[in-house]
Amino acid sequence: MDTRQVIDEIHAALTTFRRDIHAHPELAFEEHRTAERVAARLEALGIETHRGIGRTGVVGVIRKGKGSRSIGLRADMDALPITERNSFPHHSRHAGRMHACGHDGHTTMLLGAAEVLARQADFDGTVHLIFQPAEEGDGGGREMIEDGLFERFPMDAVFGMHNWPGLPAGHFAVHAGPVMASADHFEVEIRGHGAHAAMPHLGIDPVAAGAALVQALQTIASRTIDPVDPVVISVTQFHAGEANNVIPDRALLGGTVRAFRPEVQDKVEQAMQRICAGIGASFGANVNFQYHRGYPPTINTAAEAANCAEVARAVAGAAAVRTDMKPSMGAEDFSFFLLQRPGAYVWIGNGPGEGGCTLHNPHYDFNDEIIPAGVAYWARLVETLMPAGVPGAATA
Ligand code: NI
Repeated sequence: MDTRQVIDEIHAALTTFRRDIHAHPELAFEEHRTAERVAARLEALGIETHRGIGRTGVVGVIRKGKGSRSIGLRADMDALPITERNSFPHHSRHAGRMHACGHDGHTTMLLGAAEVLARQADFDGTVHLIFQPAEEGDGGGREMIEDGLFERFPMDAVFGMHNWPGLPAGHFAVHAGPVMASADHFEVEIRGHGAHAAMPHLGIDPVAAGAALVQALQTIASRTIDPVDPVVISVTQFHAGEANNVIPDRALLGGTVRAFRPEVQDKVEQAMQRICAGIGASFGANVNFQYHRGYPPTINTAAEAANCAEVARAVAGAAAVRTDMKPSMGAEDFSFFLLQRPGAYVWIGNGPGEGGCTLHNPHYDFNDEIIPAGVAYWARLVETLMPAGVPGAATA
């Protein structure tokens, strides 16, 4: 039996598993049921299994041969705080929780790969199957690293995969360099002086100051940052006031900053600080600015991205692999893994991104037809990077 036959044989069971996870979504660091199902399946396959890495994370370890090479394959397990609006039988059983980003599919494809690697694949080295919690904003990847992931499970390189609506089903995209942006966030508190709205000269208006601030922040992208360096600065919250005839005491603003380089993040933070102080001074208001670093940019290393593209071509055919996709200004906490080890993050096509089938939409669903392509890619990647009978480094 070859790998393809094994994958065909397990496709139906994997689909059932995926739909069960979809029906029972769990939010960041609450993935107890999901993690237990993953761990139980790994154990049933005879795979060494470690629970509770980074709270609800799971790591499976498969060793073959005598080689010292080792790689990590990572999937995410968490859902989003969205109420699902699909009505198919495997819709979410929980209001306010939904697998709207396909992490149910990622988890399933890596479990499928675990079965193929344990039962069938021929390689020489160690594979670490990393099932991480809390990708959607809470940094489950960072949590696993702080819990000693790379010390407890030494690996030469690490790889990630995310489904991508709009890319044809089962196609792949990967390139060297930035894939996803950093995601920082900020809060601004403007303290003015409350007054009767008919007597504005007796107050200091935080709404007028806030409006000026929102305008001025737009100049950072257009006047401060090099035009060939991508950056997004979005003010997404502006809260002030309760009545039409009252100038409020204060205004609260918030938003997000996206970029691909730490130098750009530094420059944006400094410029925002400067503009906040300047607007405060010009309006006579007190402006308190807080800037928080979130996920770093996701940057693929060149050799690993090239290897992944080659493996994807072998699995899906050359015409089904793109290396020219533009990076996304979205963010990914796989970036924390790539700060520790070389590696690459690929997109697998989920099919048409039409209607509601886009990421984080209440009508989204992972496409079960792409499970075989994802499983085949993982298995082939391991066999390519750690070939049986060929000693050497996994990252060569
Ligand atoms: Ni996602």
